[in-house]
Amino acid sequence: MQTDTIFITISISLLVYFTYNLLFSSSSSSKSTTKTKLKLPPGPSTFGLIANFIWHRKSISELGPIVSSLRNKYGPIMTVYLGSQPNVLIADNNLAYQALVKKGAVFGGRPEGMKKIFPSRFSHKTVALSSYGGIWRVLRRNLVGTEGVLYPPRIKSYSHIRKRVLDNLVAQLIRDSKDGQGHVYVREPFRHAIISFLFLLCFGDNIDENKIQEFEATQKRFTVVSTRVIKAYVIAQKLWKTVFKSVWNEFEDVLKSIEILIGSFIQARKKMKQKNEVGNNIESSSSSSSSALSYIDTLLELDVQDGNDKVNSLDEADILSLCLEFVNPGTDSILTALQWVMANVVKYSGVQANIFSEMNQVVEQGQEWIKENDLQKMPY
Ligand code: HEM
Repeated sequence: MQTDTIFITISISLLVYFTYNLLFSSSSSSKSTTKTKLKLPPGPSTFGLIANFIWHRKSISELGPIVSSLRNKYGPIMTVYLGSQPNVLIADNNLAYQALVKKGAVFGGRPEGMKKIFPSRFSHKTVALSSYGGIWRVLRRNLVGTEGVLYPPRIKSYSHIRKRVLDNLVAQLIRDSKDGQGHVYVREPFRHAIISFLFLLCFGDNIDENKIQEFEATQKRFTVVSTRVIKAYVIAQKLWKTVFKSVWNEFEDVLKSIEILIGSFIQARKKMKQKNEVGNNIESSSSSSSSALSYIDTLLELDVQDGNDKVNSLDEADILSLCLEFVNPGTDSILTALQWVMANVVKYSGVQANIFSEMNQVVEQGQEWIKENDLQKMPY
C-alpha cells in the first residue's frame, strides 16, 4: 500500500532525524528542564530491549516493520530508548508535518552535541550548528539567500553540472541494465550522481571523476564509522573514546583523510581565485573559460561577525566543516526522496501513466531529453 511506503519512509527518516538530534543537538530534554518535568510519550520499556535490539542487530533500512509494529502498540508518537537516551519518534505523516513544519519553531533546537563527538580542531561554525543569531544568519543567507549557490533561481545556472552528472547516470543505468538483464538497482548509481552533483557544486566544476570517486569512498567510510561512533557514544557517553578506543582511532583516521582531501580542494580553489580563473558571478558555465562559482568560493569571500563584534573571514577549519555539512546531509536526504519517488513509479502504474502523459506533452518528436525549462510545465 502506498500509505505504508510513505509511513515507513517517514518513520525511518524521523528515527534517523531524532537519532541525529540526540547526538548533534542540544536535544529537547535540555529545553524541558523547566519547573515541571514533562511526561514522555509511551514506548517500549525504559532501557529499551527492543531499541537495543534494533540498535545492535538491524540496519536503518530494516526498521520499517519494527516501527510499524511499535506504532500499532504505542500509537503514532512514542518514546524509544537508545541506551539510556530517550528519543521521541513520530510515525505519522500528518503529525510529523505538524511537528517539523507547522510547529517547527516550538520543536526546533540549536545543536551543541557535535562538540561531544568531533575532535576540538573541528569548527562548529556551520549553518546547522550555529546558535540562532548573526553568524547563523550570514551562513544561511550565503547558502540559500539571493547570493547563495542553492538559491532556486541561481541553481538553474548549474545546468552544465547537472548535464555532466545526468549523462554519467544514464550511461551507468544502461550498463547496469545490460549486465542485470533488465534489472537495475538504482540506489548506488543515484548516490553517485547526487554526491557528484553536490561535490562539483561545492568544490568546483573543474574537478575530474577520479577525485569524485576518492571523495565518495572516503565519505562512505565516514558514514560507516560515524554509525559506530554513534553506537559507542550511546553506550559509553562521555567515556566513549576510552571505552571504544578502536572506534575512536578509526574515526580519527577517516577524519584525517577528509581533512587532507578537502584541504587540497580549498588550496586549489584559492590558487584559481588568485589567477582569476573563477567566474565572478554564478552565471558562468562550462562554455566560459572560467570555472563556475562554487560553494567554497563563496565561503572564501565571506566575512562573519564574532561575539566581540569583530568581522573575520572564515578560516580553513570553518570552511571544511561547512563543506562537510553541504555534501554529507545533502546526499542522504536527496537519495531517500529519490528512492521513494522511484519506488512509487515502479509500484504504481497510475503514477507512471501520469508522468508519461506529462512527458508526451512537452517532449517533441525525436527529442531524447526533457529540457530543464520544460520542467516548469510539468507540475505532476
Ligand atoms: C530532499 C532533500 C532534503 C531534505 C528532505 C532535507 C531535510 C532537512 C530537514 C528536515 C532539516 C532540518 C533539520 C533540523 O532542524 O535538525 C534540514 C536542515 C538543513 N539542510 Fe536539508 N534537506 C534536504 C536537502 C539538503 C541539501 C541538498 C542540503 C545542502 C546541500 C541541505 C542542507 C541543510 C542544512 C545546512 C540544514 C540546516 C539548516 C539550519 O539549521 O538553518 N539539505 N534539511
